Amino acid sequence: MTTDKKAYRAAIVHSIADPAEVVVEASYEYFEDGLMVVENGKITAVGHTRDLLGKLASDVEVVTYKDALITAGFIDTHIHLPQTGMVGSYGEQLLDWLNTYVFPVERQFADPAHAAEVSDIFIKELLRNGTTTALVFGSRHKESVDAFFTAAEKLNLRMIAGKVMMDRNAPDYLVDTAESSYVDSKALIERWHGKGRLHYAVTPRFAPTSTPEQLSLAGQLMTEYPDLYMQTHISENLKEVEWVKELFPERKNYLDVYDHFKLLGERSVFAHGVHLCDQECERLAETGSAIAFCPTSNFFLGSGLFNLPMAERHKVNVGLGTDVGGGTSFSILQTLNEAYKVMQLQGAKLSPFKSLYLATLGGARALRLEDKIGNLHEGTEADFVVMDFNATPLLSYRMKQATSIEEKLFVLMTLGDDRTVSETYSAGVLVHKR
Ligand code: GUN
Ligand code: ZN
Repeated sequence: MTTDKKAYRAAIVHSIADPAEVVVEASYEYFEDGLMVVENGKITAVGHTRDLLGKLASDVEVVTYKDALITAGFIDTHIHLPQTGMVGSYGEQLLDWLNTYVFPVERQFADPAHAAEVSDIFIKELLRNGTTTALVFGSRHKESVDAFFTAAEKLNLRMIAGKVMMDRNAPDYLVDTAESSYVDSKALIERWHGKGRLHYAVTPRFAPTSTPEQLSLAGQLMTEYPDLYMQTHISENLKEVEWVKELFPERKNYLDVYDHFKLLGERSVFAHGVHLCDQECERLAETGSAIAFCPTSNFFLGSGLFNLPMAERHKVNVGLGTDVGGGTSFSILQTLNEAYKVMQLQGAKLSPFKSLYLATLGGARALRLEDKIGNLHEGTEADFVVMDFNATPLLSYRMKQATSIEEKLFVLMTLGDDRTVSETYSAGVLVHKR
């Protein structure tokens, strides 16, 4: 095999620890004039150009970016493929919004051609925004996941997805049965889980749309295969929380429904968690489960303010989710912009380095993939983004006033969006160029 070696020179920053757990200076590495060496899809060195350039063989190509910042590819720990075409739908909160807008568009994914068309648009949109890994809800139809993985595999992306399981409290045209959801999920696991950089996630939509029989079979899948993911929604909206109490009166709280069916664990990601109590956070931490914090969605659907400090107190892993189409942007930068405001409204702060952590290493930790993605350490996969300081006239002018990396990061996260991401690389291959 021939070696494919290349080096990238720019300002480079990456998150190496959670700022909630170490002094902030120990949470990141920054190289103002940095060099990152990539060989066969992996990072083999990162550091100051002055230390690394001289050691590089003279025939190795060095790609230089001016006024740009390289960091690890962004990680979106909660997003819905079939909702791409209804993002920005007016006027409702969660339960009415699902009935009015979501279920009708998800119905279309029974058609493989439609699923393939949207998968293509969806993946392009992720990459345009610098997102190199996502934990993705398909629709109830296994065709949706086949289409998504087929498209992701072509680009050798590290992606996780699953077919939605939902056997009640939804239109007849969209429900499966406990048995069919088990069989369909199993077929997808056999076909895709562990193929290349792809992983499967068992995906019960949320407690109200699954019978106890279905949740029990979801738990059974988790024990039948090693390293499967589990994704679902929890405690997003107060009416939803009340409904879960009515449907499962014997369980102590919302999380306990999932716990009862053996759906908690190190690869389990619960979206939202806006209205969780201390006891639930404690149990999430104890089981190594993670929360996907989805600020644009929580604002858009009027769901509430996620209590990040509470999750931190309990040492729960937290990643960031766009939750498109409840969320309003594919951009992790825009998602951070809104996350900052969620903290402000609670009298708390979200530092630029905590934001960087949430967007990269925190997401990787939530997914137990920090040895592969979410940072730029030697040996990790070369999934990274190049952010252009001159992406817009205002950004360009504002960045000229910024002196520290902290300030630069904050401006990128506040003013930045898809335009800011000039290039996206996956396993060392350029997969998006603006
Ligand atoms: N809860 C159950 N299904 C959904 C969904 O599709 N989006 C959001 N935001 N919450 C949900
Ligand atoms: Zn969601």
